Amino acid sequence: MARERGEPVVVVRQARASLGSRPVLRGVDLTVRRGEVVALLGANGSGKSTMVRALVGQVPLTGGELELFGTPRRRFRQWARVGYMPQRTTAASGVPATVREVVSAGRLARTKLRWPGRGDRAAVDRALELVGMADRARDSVNALSGGQHQRVLIARALAGEPELLIMDEPMAGVDLASQQVLADALRQQVARGTTVLLVLHELGPLEPLIDRAVVLRDGCVAHDGPPPKAVGQHALPGHDHIHPHAADAAEPIRTGLLI
Ligand SMILES: Nc1ncnc2c1ncn2[C@@H]1O[C@H](COP(=O)(O)OP(=O)(O)OP(=O)(O)O)[C@@H](O)[C@H]1O
Ligand SMILES: [Mg+2]
Repeated sequence: MARERGEPVVVVRQARASLGSRPVLRGVDLTVRRGEVVALLGANGSGKSTMVRALVGQVPLTGGELELFGTPRRRFRQWARVGYMPQRTTAASGVPATVREVVSAGRLARTKLRWPGRGDRAAVDRALELVGMADRARDSVNALSGGQHQRVLIARALAGEPELLIMDEPMAGVDLASQQVLADALRQQVARGTTVLLVLHELGPLEPLIDRAVVLRDGCVAHDGPPPKAVGQHALPGHDHIHPHAADAAEPIRTGLLI
């Protein structure tokens, strides 16, 4: 794909973080360049969510460095350039909000205190269209299925028209047809030059979009390179696949769901 790759948008150097007394990130290195689509893979509990939450300032590091757009994370203030979609939580918010309201919240870093204008409304419309939820815009989010809710969260991240999109398991609980819809939405976003860091368990319909995969194992990077093909095909629970193209042949990389 002839996309321009440029300067690093995300730089993580020897990141360490603990949650409670447990060391969760134990020296992670990760670079994402402008225009790249990078998948962050790994078993449950390997530290994927903690890594992306550290990037958006929700988890403090106990060591190492983070940079966003060339600025140390501590000094980074341009949050309108970043769209973040957290991992789905099972708890419903209970707050009665419409689909449109939730997606509009994705513009907040851009609008700040000014009244949303035509451009903001157009961006929200576009995001709703992209995920196929335009016809549900007036519905309460509490009346949506899990997969529809997931689409709304994706639309919220897209509505801010971010340069860097960070998504934590956007496909979780989404059926195959909807995954295709979301993959198409993401493809359009990538074609506009958006840089993407995605936490995934399987590549699925996103596989053609992924430039590089970083696999975490116990809070360390176990693989950084071409996406392991097997993840898309065999990432079923319990499947334990030895990846044939492991960079270090002496230590095969297990790329199944249970790494
Ligand atoms: N708030 C917390 N307090 C203490 N430990 C936590 C907390 N959140 C996560 N952990 C632990 O940190 C480790 C890494 O969790 P993390 O959510 O980053 O994993 P993950 O790779 O995203 O997993 P999954 O695939 O299940 O989403 C796990 O062992 C988890 O139990
Ligand atoms: Mg997670």
